[in-house]
Amino acid sequence: MAIYILESSSRKTGYSAQAAQAAISIFEAQGAAYIYDRAISLNVAYCLACDKCISEEVECSVKDDMLGVYANLIKASALLFITPITFSSVPAQLKAILDRGQRFYNRPLKREAKIPAYFIAFGGAKPYKEQFEIYPLQFKHLLKNIDAWQAGALNFAHTDAYGPRLSDAAARQIQALALQAAGS
Ligand SMILES: Cc1cc2nc3c(=O)[nH]c(=O)nc-3n(C[C@H](O)[C@H](O)[C@H](O)COP(=O)(O)O)c2cc1C
Repeated sequence: MAIYILESSSRKTGYSAQAAQAAISIFEAQGAAYIYDRAISLNVAYCLACDKCISEEVECSVKDDMLGVYANLIKASALLFITPITFSSVPAQLKAILDRGQRFYNRPLKREAKIPAYFIAFGGAKPYKEQFEIYPLQFKHLLKNIDAWQAGALNFAHTDAYGPRLSDAAARQIQALALQAAGS
C-alpha cells in the first residue's frame, strides 16, 4: 500500500512538479510509502473501447504504461492528483489516462474501505467561475469505480503571475494537505 501521486503537467519544473516535491518531502518525513507518476513520462494510448477488459483475464488489450497505472491505483492507500488547468479542464495526457479508466468502469474495484483522493490544481488565469469546476467532474467516474472519495482539494488561480517558484504560502498549504494524506 502506498500513496499514489499522479501529476499531469507537461512542464518538468512547473508548479505541479514543485507541488509534487513539496508533498513528497512530507511523505518522506512521515515515513509514508508513495509512488510518483508523471503523465508526461508515461506512454498511454487512447482507450479502444474494445471492452476486452470486461473479462477478468484481460487487464487491458493495450499493452502500455497504463498497466502500471492500473496497478498503482489498485494498490493505493490514498491518491494525490496534481494537475494544471487547460481550457478549463484537464490536460490531454491526463484525459487519456482517465479514459483508460474504462477498465474500472467495466470491472469496478471493491475495497474493504474507500480510499481518500486529494487534488491540487493550478490555473494560470485570474479566477473565473468555471476555472476549477470542471476538472473534479472529469475524475468523478474513476473515483467511483476505484472505490475512492474526494477528501480534499487545493486550487491555485492566477499562477501565470507567479515567478518561477511556488510561493512559500502555497507550499505550506500543499504540505498540510500532504500531511492529511499521509495520515489517512
Ligand atoms: C494549453 C494550455 C491551456 C491553458 N488553459 C487554461 C485555462 O483554461 N484556464 C486557466 O486558468 N489557465 C490555463 N492555462 C494556464 C495553466 O493552467 C498554468 O500555466 C499552470 O500554472 C500550468 O501548470 P504547471 O506550472 O504545473 O505546468 C493553460 C495553459 C496551457 C499550456
